Amino acid sequence: MKHLLSLEKLPREEMLSILRNVSAFKQGRKQDPRRPLAGQTWAMIFAKSSTRTRVSFEVGIAELGGRPMFLSATDIQLGRGEPIKDTARVLGRMVHGAVIRTYAQSDVEQFAEFSGIPTINALTDLEHPCQILTDVSTIEELRGPIAGKVVAFVGDGACNVPSSWIWAAARLGFEFRVASPRRYQPPADLLRRAGGSIVCTEDPAAAADGADVLYTDVWVSMGKEAEAAERRRELAHYQINRALVQRAKPGALVMHCLPAYRGLEIDEATFEAHAETIFTQAENRLHVQKAILDWIVQP
Ligand code: CP
Ligand code: NVA
Repeated sequence: MKHLLSLEKLPREEMLSILRNVSAFKQGRKQDPRRPLAGQTWAMIFAKSSTRTRVSFEVGIAELGGRPMFLSATDIQLGRGEPIKDTARVLGRMVHGAVIRTYAQSDVEQFAEFSGIPTINALTDLEHPCQILTDVSTIEELRGPIAGKVVAFVGDGACNVPSSWIWAAARLGFEFRVASPRRYQPPADLLRRAGGSIVCTEDPAAAADGADVLYTDVWVSMGKEAEAAERRRELAHYQINRALVQRAKPGALVMHCLPAYRGLEIDEATFEAHAETIFTQAENRLHVQKAILDWIVQP
């Protein structure tokens, strides 16, 4: 039984095998006859908001021949306190796979353990593996192999998105730089466990110097709304803008996992100048997740 619970738990070979199939799903979207999810129903349990992840999984599951069943966590009994392991045992007897967006990583792991069906992490507080597999795939599509490149992340370096980036960098052999104030830097134990070429700095310009990719994410992740004012104050200098882009390699990609808050983590002009890249990145969620679904249902 395969799961995609985190990039930490996804071995390099499996990562590569997913990434290898993306272009076939993207190029062949209209005429691809493969239906690896034929006859299957996939539950999509979401405890947090989503546009890209929800739509790309619903469309992707349907295009692979399956039926997506969207379940808002607040509408099912989970939201009234039914334990995740009971929810998992019920759904495991009825559906063929699950895509889960929630807070605690342990909930996704428990669901996988108790349901006995393939389980995909669609974002937890700890990781966002589908996003970072997409980002790697997008960089390779636009700029060739990621090995040896430099990806500079500017913003909240302690949230799910940079955490998944750290595992990707360790497995795929590129340099990942994080520019954040000290208290928003990746946890020391994560850096120790992951290894790889990870550089943490408080200086966005130093992170951006000669980088192939500048990347950012929201300053206030879902679940951190109570800290919004404090985060906006403390992260105010960690914005991708024209001056920062000028430090990067000429022609560097500017990426954002979205949703974007103009004037905070990225300025309006820089966002719009790089919108083609950013929305290709968003579109690629669909193609990459089809490759993930296809991989996960193969024995
Ligand atoms: N990037 C991303 O996961 O977007 P959603 O929150 O809209 O799914
Ligand atoms: N770090 C962000 C990612 C949104 C896709 C969050 O968790 O809200």
